[in-house]
Order: sequence, then structure tokens, then C-alpha cells
Amino acid sequence: MSAAPLKIAIAGLGTVGGGTVELLHAQAELLAARAGRTLAVVACAALARPDHLPLGEARFFTDARAMAREAEYDVLVELIGGADGIALDIVTAALERGRSVVTANKAMIAHHGVTLARLAEKTGAVLGFEASVGGGIPVIKALREGLAGNRVNRVMGILNGTCNYILTTMREQGRDFADVLAEAQKLGYAEADPSFDIDGVDTAHKLAILASLAFAMPVDIKRVACEGIRHVSALDIRYADELGYRIKLLGVAGRTEAGIETRVYPAMVPLSFPLAHVNGVFNAVVTEGDFVGRTVLEGRGAGAHPTASAVVADLMDIARNRTTPTFGVPVERLAEQPAAPAGSHRSAFYIRLMVRDEPGVFADIAAVLRDERVSMEQVIQRGRSPSEIVPVVMTVHETDEAAMMRAVDRLAALASVAEPPRLIRIEAL
Ligand SMILES: NC(=O)c1ccc[n+]([C@@H]2O[C@H](COP(=O)([O-])OP(=O)(O)OC[C@H]3O[C@@H](n4cnc5c(N)ncnc54)[C@H](OP(=O)(O)O)[C@@H]3O)[C@@H](O)[C@H]2O)c1
Repeated sequence: MSAAPLKIAIAGLGTVGGGTVELLHAQAELLAARAGRTLAVVACAALARPDHLPLGEARFFTDARAMAREAEYDVLVELIGGADGIALDIVTAALERGRSVVTANKAMIAHHGVTLARLAEKTGAVLGFEASVGGGIPVIKALREGLAGNRVNRVMGILNGTCNYILTTMREQGRDFADVLAEAQKLGYAEADPSFDIDGVDTAHKLAILASLAFAMPVDIKRVACEGIRHVSALDIRYADELGYRIKLLGVAGRTEAGIETRVYPAMVPLSFPLAHVNGVFNAVVTEGDFVGRTVLEGRGAGAHPTASAVVADLMDIARNRTTPTFGVPVERLAEQPAAPAGSHRSAFYIRLMVRDEPGVFADIAAVLRDERVSMEQVIQRGRSPSEIVPVVMTVHETDEAAMMRAVDRLAALASVAEPPRLIRIEAL
């Protein structure tokens, strides 16, 4: 093989770093044949040297900053994590030296993607982040390259495996959120502090990245409206089943007449839509392009080997000298787009009220909906005995979110309504 090896320095040898080392070792021949040169790990950094990994002659650093500044490498692979701090320091140091970077760090790309892409352009380096969204699913490449001939109108997905695992287990076993979350933590599927996952922040990071690629706008995490799954109950999941839906945490970015909408929220997904059948820790991304129509990608959204597969895809592009602008267009051509104002969203909704089972309740509810011009589609009410609290479940036709919110506030204030109403959007397809 005549071309010089691609010299790789890996910072972080945990789940993804370890998986990447294993993949590079196990597939060395295959990768070399495909790239026309070998991919050689020449340096690595972690707090302690793990002895189970095939690190060969790679120089080991406990100080990742020193490795980024001093080691002789072509590509720095950042697999430590965190939006700022050491990850941002070493990536900046590598790019400043004109060395390419591959990262799985969605938080860093969501917060600093534009600055880093600008720096990479300036120094002639590549910034690869395929592993930052959807684990092993090649979604960045699909949006940036495979769909380059399309105007993308919508990109949406199930982007967090922990939430999808929790929602799937709640449905399959009829268990409540807190109970399943505690088990997921015990099994290592959820972090000790799960808020990044269950409050939708991780999904928001990934959605901000996808929206930038889809709409050629700067990555901006601040414009993503974010709602998590803490309030989804086993009861709502049962009603969703009965009504022909699955509840999923979605990240959705789309063009609307009012501007670009970027939102994360739990939604009722019709069973006829592929995302309804994406279960457990799997992720999936749906894109809608004007020429191609709808495409669906599904796969393992996390884990050592799937994520390593995405890291190595970026390394292979660099090894082959195959470059594309970081976000599909040069940074100077990324353009701010108007954000759709809050409340302008239109959607059908599911509403669950817990009401005192007494005469006249239903007339009061209907009057509120009529006043706000919200039109009911279906109602499920199974009252038992007077004085008991019973659920009243409704679905309503597509309506302005602002009107729906006003209606919910008024419903919450009715004397017969015993608990805060539960409202879940029904995803339009
Ligand atoms: N896990 C996944 O499935 C997954 C999927 C997609 C993307 N990601 C992203 O991939 C990145 C890495 O995640 P991970 O799950 O692999 O994390 P992890 O298992 O916690 O590994 C982090 C690694 O960084 C090392 N490290 C921490 N601080 C360091 C420092 N100051 N200097 C040098 N090394 C340091 C740790 O060293 P020690 O081992 O010595 O403590 C460990 O090897 C994150 O950005 C994450 O969001 C992860």
C-alpha cells in the first residue's frame, strides 16, 4: 500500500472510544483495502490506560490537552464528551493546528458547531460528527450528501434511545414512568442524572444539528422548544393503544408558513407511520424532500459498536480525502431563518381530564371547547359511580396550539376537573 497511513489520536477510551479502537483493530484489513491506506491509532488519551483494548504501540497520554497540542497525528477523535471544557479545548487545538477532527459529541456541536466549522474551514481541516446523531445510523451523511438534490421540508425522529426504551417498556409491561426509569438506571440504560435524556435536552441537541443540515441554517440549540417525557403516564399509553397510536418522544424540524419550527415533544404517532414501530433503544429518522419524498432510516442509536461504526465512517472519508462542507454549505452561506412563533403550531391533540363523575360535567367541557373553537373528534368516557374520579379522554381535530392552551387552562379551572389536564400532540403525517 503506497499511501501513508492515516494517523489517528483518540481522546477518551470509554464506551465509544473503546468501541472505536476495537473496530479499527478488528476491521483493519477491510478498512485499508477500502481506503487505500491503513488507519493507524498512534496516540490515545484517557484518565487511566485501559488494559483490555488492543492499543498496540499507540502513545498513551493522561493529559488529552497535551496530546492534542503535541502528538503527531492527522485526525483527532474526540470521545470524552461535554459541550465545553476539555472536549472543546482539544478540538479547538487540533483544528487550529490544521488537523481534522471526528467527534460523537452532540452537545459540543449543538453549542459550538458553527464556530468549530468556521475554524476548520480556515485551517483546511475536516470536522466530522456522524456519530453525534442517531448512533450507528448514517443520518448526517444521508442529509448532507444523499439528499443534496432536495429541498428538505421536514426532518423528524426518535433520537434518544433511553426515552424510547422507557416508553416502550411502559407500554409493553403496563408500568409507570418512575418505576421503569429506576430499572433503566439499574441496567445502565439511563444515567444516574437522567434529566438530559428524559427532559428532551439530548434530543434537542441532535435536532439542532439535523435542522442546520436540513435548512442550511446555523446550529442553534436556543431555538429548539423542548418538552420531555416525565409527564407521560401508563394510563395515557393505554389510551394511545386504544386510539391507534404509540407515544414517542420526537424531535421535529419543519418548514411552516410562519417559519422554521424546531421542537422536541412526546407525541401520539399513528400506527400507520413507521416511527410508531421503532421500539426499545432503537432510533429512527424520517426526512421529507421535495424530489425524493419520504425516507426512513432506523438503527441502533447508541452503544459502543454502532457508534464506533459512525466514527469510523468519518475517518474513512478523511482517509480517502473526501470532503464536504461541514453543514452542507460553507459556513458563510448558513443563513438565519425566521423561527415559527410559539403558539403558531397547528396540531390535533389528545386530552385526558380526571373529572368528578357528576351530571353536567360533559356539558361544561364541551362549552369550553366550543368557545375556543376547538372541534372534538372522539371521546372516551367510562364513568362508574357518582363521586368517583374518572378519566375523560378526547381527541380534537387540528387546531391552533394557542387556542388549545387557552382551552386547557379553562378546563383545568373547572370545579369538576380534579387534576391538571394531560395534553399530548397527535403527529400529523
Ligand atoms: N455511549 C454512547 O452510546 C454514545 C452514543 C453516541 C454519542 N456518544 C457521545 O460520545 C462521547 C463519549 O461518550 P461515552 O459514552 O463513550 O463516554 P464514557 O464511556 O464516559 O467515556 C469517556 C472517556 O473519556 C475519558 N475522559 C474523561 N475525562 C477525561 C480527561 N479530562 N482527559 C482524558 N480523558 C478523559 C474517560 O477516561 P476514563 O475511562 O479513564 O475515566 C473515558 O475513557 C460523548 O460525547 C457522548 O455524548 C455516546
